[in-house]
Amino acid sequence: MQIGKLSDALGAEVTGIDLNQPHNPATVEALKRAFAENLVLVVRDQKDLSPEAHVRFCEFFGPLGKRSRPADSRHEKGNEPAEVMFVSNRRVDGKYVYTLPEGEMMFHIDQCYVERPARATCLYAIVVPEVGGDTLFGNLCAAYDALPADLRAVVDSHRALNVFTYDSTQRDQVGDPSKRREFVQPMVVRHAVTGRKALYVNRLMTWSIEGMDKAASDAILARLFDHQEEPRFVYRHKWRKGDLLLWDNQCTVHARADFDPNAERHLRRFTVAGGPLAA
Ligand SMILES: [Fe+2]
Repeated sequence: MQIGKLSDALGAEVTGIDLNQPHNPATVEALKRAFAENLVLVVRDQKDLSPEAHVRFCEFFGPLGKRSRPADSRHEKGNEPAEVMFVSNRRVDGKYVYTLPEGEMMFHIDQCYVERPARATCLYAIVVPEVGGDTLFGNLCAAYDALPADLRAVVDSHRALNVFTYDSTQRDQVGDPSKRREFVQPMVVRHAVTGRKALYVNRLMTWSIEGMDKAASDAILARLFDHQEEPRFVYRHKWRKGDLLLWDNQCTVHARADFDPNAERHLRRFTVAGGPLAA
């Protein structure tokens, strides 16, 4: 197994390993160390990775996460474990049947609108388009470290409201109120292994800073979003079939670039469970 850097911002690329096979503890420790240091792991060339092997990989990093939204019976056609989700634009009878089928998606943190967001999210690329549909990852530890003093003072001493209406991909899409979830989180969280602080806000879901009037809150959030999305903190992942990608869902933000809705994109997702977030 070889592990190398993906970019200056974050990420490690892992090659020379077949995750359908069982692994010894030293390999698992090396993967865990690389994940803690780099926040994103891309394991290349995983041919026909079984759902069981996908789950086993996730469990190297912690217990498997439950889905934050109710399982939709439309999704569960196969023999995958109940925690599975497919991020996919596959259609049945001409209609989308899976989650987040199309389009660009703003920077966000999965499940930041619930008490216990996933610690990590893991996608396996089964079918990806030739062009488009890249995923961008921002390093929130580096973003925190580089904050100007006035913004750091705000985030160190405030919490923020995170809101999501399922299937919205842009901020302030109101959508169906029965599908709306929200939770107040710290604006700074600590990496569980390294102890580094991370700037825990995102453009899609962080709507307001607690205890601030709307104009002041909007102005500060706009600066924070622009800061954390600066190119120096961001790695852009161009998917290859067979990529297994795990991201730290507390210390990174991610976004999706647009792609042709007629080009098939089918990814299998599991998460690693997380606990309540503490500043
Ligand atoms: Fe996401």
